[in-house]
Amino acid sequence: MTCVYRCGNQCAHEPPNTSGNEYFGDVMSRVLSRRGLLRAGALVAGVGGIAGALPAAAAAATGATAPARAGGALTFTPVAPNTRDDVTVPDGYGWDVVLRWGDPVLPGAPEFDFEHQTAEAQRQQFGYNCDYVMLFPLGPDRGLLTVNHEYTNEELMFHGWQGGASATEEQIRISMAAHGMSVVEVERVGHTGRWRPAQRRHRNRRIHTHTPMLLTGPAAGSDLLKTKADPNGRWVLGMLNNCSGGRTPWGTVLTCEENFHQYFVGGDGAPEPAKPGLQRYGIPTDRRIPSSGYRGWERVDERFDLAKHPNEANRFGYVVEIDPYDPDFVPRKRTHLGRFKHEAANTTLSADRRVVVYLGDDERFEYIYKFVSRHRYLPGDSRKAREHNLRLLDEGTLYVARFTGDGTADGQYDGTGEWIPLVSGNVSHVPGMTAEEVLVFTRLAADKVGATKMDRPEDIERNPVTGEVYAALTNNTRRTPGQVDEANPRPANKHGHVLAIREAGDDAAAERFTWHIPLVCGDPNDPSTYFAGYDKSKVSPISCPDNLTFDAAGNLWIATDGNALGSNDGLFAMPVRGPERGHVKQFLTVPHGAETCGPLITADQRTCFVAVQHPGEVDGASADNPASTWPDRRGFPRPSVICVWRTGPGSPRIGA
Ligand code: FEO
Ligand code: CA
Ligand code: CA
Repeated sequence: MTCVYRCGNQCAHEPPNTSGNEYFGDVMSRVLSRRGLLRAGALVAGVGGIAGALPAAAAAATGATAPARAGGALTFTPVAPNTRDDVTVPDGYGWDVVLRWGDPVLPGAPEFDFEHQTAEAQRQQFGYNCDYVMLFPLGPDRGLLTVNHEYTNEELMFHGWQGGASATEEQIRISMAAHGMSVVEVERVGHTGRWRPAQRRHRNRRIHTHTPMLLTGPAAGSDLLKTKADPNGRWVLGMLNNCSGGRTPWGTVLTCEENFHQYFVGGDGAPEPAKPGLQRYGIPTDRRIPSSGYRGWERVDERFDLAKHPNEANRFGYVVEIDPYDPDFVPRKRTHLGRFKHEAANTTLSADRRVVVYLGDDERFEYIYKFVSRHRYLPGDSRKAREHNLRLLDEGTLYVARFTGDGTADGQYDGTGEWIPLVSGNVSHVPGMTAEEVLVFTRLAADKVGATKMDRPEDIERNPVTGEVYAALTNNTRRTPGQVDEANPRPANKHGHVLAIREAGDDAAAERFTWHIPLVCGDPNDPSTYFAGYDKSKVSPISCPDNLTFDAAGNLWIATDGNALGSNDGLFAMPVRGPERGHVKQFLTVPHGAETCGPLITADQRTCFVAVQHPGEVDGASADNPASTWPDRRGFPRPSVICVWRTGPGSPRIGA
């Protein structure tokens, strides 16, 4: 079940990266000759996390690095691994549901009715499978919560679900409406760290599979993006499978289209020249995907049939920018950030205040990317600044990462690396591919320049205190002993690892870096695990790191998805420096069958938001035979965003 619905059977077929991916000496020598001396510069960070009482853009405009407190010790007692169908938090903490699937979002939205759900209602209600969460302040006690709705579990949403072929058209439209994003005004409860939906809904918004969006950047208008419905290649309806994301210094949200391949059928009937591009993104071209096994979307919207509309798939797989403060903002698919199964889109500023976006492509043997804007971020809330900043992601350079180990004789998995440029505006750096081709078929471009095949890059985020960039590599059981390298050191990597990058000169725009692996996950009794050298008898077991965040002390917080140790997924915290470095402690567990998403620790550190995605997603479970009834105990599960806060004595700060 997990494979079919979550990622379209991505792990059931061969990884689509079949590239030999050899070192192209001619490419590299050209690349290297362009590089000058590495820039040195002061660390400019402070754009990760929210900024308390300040409006987001104003807070980011300060450029202030989060306060680097000397301590940052994590005082909570770890939660023990468990298989409960509930959220478990440490003693001295409370939690509550903030928003659950079906909750009214828009003004006048109907109350949720599981037995009589309609597409019209769903378009006004909180969607399914909440993922990335960000809070955009409206003041110290109010904010706009933006939440991705990655995908749907139809088998848990509808009684008697047998697949897309036999679904009613209304059921299919409900699923389409349950994808996308919600923007919901929330308010603090009293003076606590607890939050709830506000009565005011005039800023609220639902974005779904039929919301009009603009394609922007160098690939907009390309023949590769033109369809019968959009002969100019500049407009598209909807965004698909929005998983993780990020926040810009100017107060917009970036949301990432991930496993978009699973919504399409008919690749076998696409024109022959289109087939390599479809295959490289995991869309079969040798057989027709049966609607019965999938969602059947092509039955109500024929653009999902590639035999009829072969370019439609090229219009998904992007990072989408949305201004949550403007309910009428037209979402923009930023083609310059490349097209792949996007996971993270976390931003920081370079030494000269250009915007840098770290990007992961979540599939086995795919790559880590970053985008560096050509122009500098302009602080402030003026109209001029806003218009300037909203163009920053349309002009710059897209890079892909190559990691080189320095050997294991030093007892460390570490080495050096470089960011290989792929495309700058309309200039391609990849021989044989135009700029448009690089941006629409980014995986094919990265194959050609010797990028390093990674163990499923998930979240990538810069630590606002230390300046290091952390990447979660969630797992890759297909890596053979012959395919290991120092950056992906474990064959049959069931439990994943975390890799840390230090950009040259601490400048996020640098084209070279050093790296090391502070965490190799798993049961601490497993000799292949590594907890930054900390005493393994004292750490929590951790498996399949996915979403990352940091608290104000720079501690790394890790959400997991797919715990291969037999207990529920959860949220963990790990100091990255000082005597506690590597001391992984489990902060919470999510209910049976769920994945831990979102995690967001507010800038005041009084609230931790977590998205509890797909509770009850267990093989054999259905709406008629649920494996979870969390959180309502009404016979079916509801994916929900929760908040966690301190209730006990002492500091009100999460973790402290
Ligand atoms: Fe939707 Fe890569 O997790
Ligand atoms: Ca080494
Ligand atoms: Ca994820």
